[in-house]
Formats: sequence, structure tokens, C-alpha cells
Amino acid sequence: MIKILIINGPNLNMLGLREINQYGKISYDDLCNLIKTHSKNKVQIEFYQSNIEGEIVSRVQEIIDQDIDALIVNPGAYTHTSIAIRDALAILNIPKIEVHLSDINSRENFRKTNLITDLCELSIIGKGANGYIEAIEYLYEKN
Ligand code: DQA
Repeated sequence: MIKILIINGPNLNMLGLREINQYGKISYDDLCNLIKTHSKNKVQIEFYQSNIEGEIVSRVQEIIDQDIDALIVNPGAYTHTSIAIRDALAILNIPKIEVHLSDINSRENFRKTNLITDLCELSIIGKGANGYIEAIEYLYEKN
């Protein structure tokens, strides 16, 4: 069974409370439970969420010495700003899938800057919580 790490960045722990029109009503815990239920007997999932840029960089670096087969990442607002997270992701030789709940390409202009997309094998954007499920399915089918 392959092991997938799912990294979520700042404010994703506030799902269900923040901009429901963009991100939906699902809470972060419910999102994790939905993913766990879907992945049962298929793939092994580990979750990591942080509001702190450097912590995300460190967690990405740790992957190098860990038995993790693929990464699903939603860096939140850091998608648009963080060269440090981009550089950390560039070190990894495992498949990386980018997920965004909202359609970042049809929102404010500053969300159109995406510093990680060219490093990712697949980008799933604007599909809400289902984007994570699609990413898992893609990785499962691939292996
Ligand atoms: C997000 C989109 C980002 O622009 C925003 O800052 C987020 C969440 C998404 O999942 O749609 O925090 O990554």
C-alpha cells in the first residue's frame, strides 16, 4: 500500500468557518475524516497542517528520509508567495499533486501567481474537498 502525505497550509485548519462560498462548509477535521474513509484499504494517508511557512518547509524536507511515496499539497496563500516552499518541493523526487479547494484562477489577480504548479505532476483546482479525493484516486491508479 502506498503512503501519501497531505500537507495543508495556513488557514486550512479554519475550513467551515472561513469564506464558505469559496471553500465550502466542511471543517478541516471532517475533510481529514472524509479522506481517511475514502482511502481505507487503498492507500495509507498522513496529514500535516501548519500556519507557519518555515514549518511547512521543514516538513517537506523531512520527507526525504521518510518512507513516503507521494505528496498532495495545498499551501494555501503560500502558493502565491513562498519561494521557500517552492524550493523545498523542488528537492523531492516523489510525485507531487497540487490541490486547491477554490478556483484560484478566477479569483483575485494575486491568486493567479502560482509558485508551485510547474513542480507538480497534476493540479486539481476548484473542486472543493473532492479535489483531494481525485488526487488520491490518481495516485492509487498510477501505482
Ligand atoms: C487555497 C487558495 C488560496 O488562494 C488561499 O489563500 C487559501 C486556500 C484553496 O484551497 O483554494 O488559503 O489554496
